[in-house]
Amino acid sequence: MATTVAVMSQKGGTGKTTTVRTLTDVMRRVGVDVLAVDLDPQGNLSDYFDVPADADPTVADVLAGQAKALDAIHEDVLPANLSLAESELILSGKMGREMTLRRALREAGKRYQLILIDCPPSLGLLTVNALVAADYALISSEAEYFSLQGVEQALEVVDLAKESLNPDLEWLGVVLNIADLRTVHGREAQVSLTERFPEQVFKAPIRRSVAYAESAERGVSILDHRPDLGADYLALAGEVLDRLGWKDERTRLNALG
Ligand SMILES: Nc1ncnc2c1ncn2[C@@H]1O[C@H](COP(=O)(O)OP(=O)(O)OP(=O)(O)O)[C@@H](O)[C@H]1O
Ligand SMILES: [Mg+2]
Repeated sequence: MATTVAVMSQKGGTGKTTTVRTLTDVMRRVGVDVLAVDLDPQGNLSDYFDVPADADPTVADVLAGQAKALDAIHEDVLPANLSLAESELILSGKMGREMTLRRALREAGKRYQLILIDCPPSLGLLTVNALVAADYALISSEAEYFSLQGVEQALEVVDLAKESLNPDLEWLGVVLNIADLRTVHGREAQVSLTERFPEQVFKAPIRRSVAYAESAERGVSILDHRPDLGADYLALAGEVLDRLGWKDERTRLNALG
């Protein structure tokens, strides 16, 4: 069965989608079979992976019970578009609404080693569905002073989901994302986040660079567009593999870097 990781944050624009996209790239390069799930009506992850805009069915149809996940996967991506906003509304009135994604991914879970879920920028029903479907939550946070509260809230939601809906859920860690370590503020934020969440925060921050916007625009992974920056994601992936206890993949990753 696949190990499932939900990538989440309490607010928008923290680099979640870029993290899912790039970790998917790294993991595939070390031979892991990855399914990337877009659970955001914005559909950014689907765009990143060049899934055609008219792809049909999508994760919305899967959550509505109108399609099987396996039939909605396009080249190892389960895409989303705006119709997901509507299915979230429909879902909210249903029994077992928090379990829907978990059930829907059960079959697909047999085909993959890792499932990465890109959550929308809120802690609503879609993110709860991701947390119920997941073994681990990976929290993305900008390295800013006010991020302390956001990480706190995200970890609380993980705890709540664990207590009430998914006892097996664990946090995988907190990635300090889009970090501007050239400024005093950025470095101080890194220090205070690391002091406050010493076990959770990954040692490898993802540095801020305009190259990410270029890489998204050109549809080229940051690993190829700017390997010097991609090194941040190789380091993060290394820590993720360590926390998952995947030793062979870790060895292959070392050979990549
Ligand atoms: N390390 C980085 N440095 C600079 N810009 C980045 C970095 N990572 C991502 N970005 C850019 O920041 C913007 C937001 O990134 P992304 O879409 O990954 O965040 P998100 O958390 O998924 O956003 P949303 O909450 O809207 O889904 C994008 O324009 C992306 O190209
Ligand atoms: Mg996103």
